[in-house]
Amino acid sequence: DNKVEFRKSLLSWYKEEKRDLPWRHTSNPYYIWVSEVMLQQTRVDTVIPYYERFIDKYPTMETLALAEENELLKMWEGLGYYSRVRNLQIGVQEVVESYGSEVPNNRKTISTLKGVGPYTAGAVLSIAYGIPEHAVDGNVMRVISRILLIEEDISVPKTKKIFEDVVMELIDKNDPSSFNQGLMELGATICTPKPKCLLCPVREYCSAFFEGKQEELPVKSKK
Ligand code: ADE
Repeated sequence: DNKVEFRKSLLSWYKEEKRDLPWRHTSNPYYIWVSEVMLQQTRVDTVIPYYERFIDKYPTMETLALAEENELLKMWEGLGYYSRVRNLQIGVQEVVESYGSEVPNNRKTISTLKGVGPYTAGAVLSIAYGIPEHAVDGNVMRVISRILLIEEDISVPKTKKIFEDVVMELIDKNDPSSFNQGLMELGATICTPKPKCLLCPVREYCSAFFEGKQEELPVKSKK
């Protein structure tokens, strides 16, 4: 049916066209965690060299757990939002001390870690462990709002749940990592605020494109 075809189109496009990014060469959950924390408020091109330096300096969770705060902040200089790296270190210390250095592989437990919100939890679970879990950020809400012509206001916090539920229905159970990263990649490269619909691999499944409403979505009352 329609969902199956949508998944197929998204996944084959992602597999052909995805950018070669350093965290796409690993399924180490700690490395995926680091990349997702860095990517939360910072663009991909900026993150790449920081990610490489960080992983070189702290190749294991134990090394990060023991790092000095001033050294850690220096590694983060230029990325901003320094609470992110403080929380990451605390979260990693929790994993080392309470979970035998294994990043938890279920949403309930991973979500107890410092700094791990619903998005980061879903990204690590799907990308590192291949578990079908939603990872919905602003980019993914933009993509999904257009595909399904969802006109709920994404400025209202409760709206996110609608998108998480939709992603759980659409997600490819055989390759949740590529599915979630395919949505992220589409939002980053094609389904941008001014979208390039003629290049889009899923435009035939896109209700907003059909109606010519792609630039009106997502609805966002405040920014
Ligand atoms: N933005 C957030 N997560 C990402 C990922 N895994 N790859 C590319 N961009 C992202």
